[in-house]
Amino acid sequence: MKAVLLGTTAGGGFPQWNCACALCVRARSGELPSRSQDCLAISGNGTDWWLVNASPDIRTQIAACSLLNPGPGPRDTPIRGALFTDAELDHTLGLLTLRGGAGLTVWAPGTVLHALQDQFDLRTVIDGYAPLAWRQVEADQSFDLGGLRVSAIPISGKRPKYARSSTVDGHWVVAYRFADPVTGGVLVYAPCLASWPAGFDDVVAGADCLLLDGTFYAASEMGSATGSSSGQAAMGHLPITHSLPELRRFPDVRRIYTHLNNTNPVLDPESAESVKLREAGVEAPLDGTVIEL
Ligand code: MLT
Ligand code: MN
Ligand code: ZN
Repeated sequence: MKAVLLGTTAGGGFPQWNCACALCVRARSGELPSRSQDCLAISGNGTDWWLVNASPDIRTQIAACSLLNPGPGPRDTPIRGALFTDAELDHTLGLLTLRGGAGLTVWAPGTVLHALQDQFDLRTVIDGYAPLAWRQVEADQSFDLGGLRVSAIPISGKRPKYARSSTVDGHWVVAYRFADPVTGGVLVYAPCLASWPAGFDDVVAGADCLLLDGTFYAASEMGSATGSSSGQAAMGHLPITHSLPELRRFPDVRRIYTHLNNTNPVLDPESAESVKLREAGVEAPLDGTVIEL
């Protein structure tokens, strides 16, 4: 299997349009590398590619990845569709850029399919350009996708702000486990995690590579970086100060933080926090990184 980290930051990207925090200023000046919003592309057979989440930056992310080039026919594309971990805008809005694409399928938990129709009707809007096939993923059931065995693992009940009035309960966030039956490689993608879920130890132990929610380094970070007086808790994202001790228990797994918020000091490879990550053998690689398992 091949996976490409198309984007590695939280909603807003790095730098964020309206943010003058110290890190965003350094990214804007070119001192630190800019990064786009969290999104993954994955393929088991090298021909059929799936997006895992569809970020608002998807147009430039696809253009920057030669593996996703269209062709050979004038409107052929190797992109078969998308899998959504959740219904957040930074993970779903990119679908609108793919409007009019023929034969695309979207896989998502029932909560997400509901939100994208009853709370924010992206489904009706995009189906008006070319109908998509909408498929519900069930927790702990697996299915085949382009040479990969895929399963969804419920990991959080965090719902998007626009869906806060929804009365639908259930798993609002899932992680995906991708297994390549030919190589035996296993990749787990979990870009939104409020706490370390029961049973997650086994999921991590069984993976060769884990892509994990690295939104905030510390719970108080939003408040201190932006001067907000509210102090801001970690907004449903387990901070690295809490997840890094968990990750240290799995030294044999390649461990990668993604969905980094623009306030996160690990965006600076020279920061003390980045040094701590490296000491633990954990990575925060840039957009465009290719993982082969
Ligand atoms: C999140 O990850 O918490 C959300 O995407 C926040 C947002 O961008 O609205
Ligand atoms: Mn997000
Ligand atoms: Zn910022």
